[in-house]
Amino acid sequence: MRIMILKDYNEMSKKAAKILASQVILKPNSILGLATGSTPVGMYNELIKFYNANEIDFSEVKTFNLDEYYGLNKNNEQSYYYFMMNNFFKHVNINLQNINIPNGMAEDIEKECFEYEEKILQSGGIDIQVLGIGANGHIGFNEPDVNFEASTHLVELEESTIKANSRFFKYIDEVPKKAISMGMKTIMQSKQIILLASGKNKAEVIKNAIEGKITPTVPASILQLHTNVTFIIDEAAASKLESKIEVAYG
Ligand code: F6R
Repeated sequence: MRIMILKDYNEMSKKAAKILASQVILKPNSILGLATGSTPVGMYNELIKFYNANEIDFSEVKTFNLDEYYGLNKNNEQSYYYFMMNNFFKHVNINLQNINIPNGMAEDIEKECFEYEEKILQSGGIDIQVLGIGANGHIGFNEPDVNFEASTHLVELEESTIKANSRFFKYIDEVPKKAISMGMKTIMQSKQIILLASGKNKAEVIKNAIEGKITPTVPASILQLHTNVTFIIDEAAASKLESKIEVAYG
């Protein structure tokens, strides 16, 4: 496990963007695993800057997003499809045939989950997966007491997640209670993982994920077992670490 501690959100975003950009430069047909939420927005902005400066070409890249709300249609402004289009895809030369986000409106959810998983496998697997982390330790929407063996599946969101995500909705009642999410097994099968975290409200969970016991009550703690994972976090998110682990100051 590598831990990179950056001064602030901007530096964290730049570092994450540079790592993704290097991946795409080295392997133009990379398979990227992507996340939504507030944390990666700065990273997407930096990637768009690289693209505008002609430094990266996304034309052969394929993407798989971690999750999508159940019951929200693509055109709904709160859907993760809409988020990805607005924050990233429509600003770069990615081929829209190459983007994959679970379909929250699928009639047969089990089939949707199975096919999503198959598609990832058939693409050759995710080269690099970007993760954020919930204050409760979730990655994707794999909530505490997670099943480490799960692949893509329908999840019930925790009350705390619904509350945290309500900041994007007008009324808390509008926040979907379920989502389709890659499972822990899907995430752990990625060849490389970068987890981004920023701010004091993530300090406790970052400490538990990195220095605590590996336990289903902190889903992100399983990342300790991955052979190529880098936590890219700012000083505020790192503030509770005692770290005896390799730390690189970015
Ligand atoms: C988003 C996702 C979630 C978020 C997490 C943190 O695709 O899978 O796990 O990464 O909820 O969200 P923010 O970044 O908004 O704090």
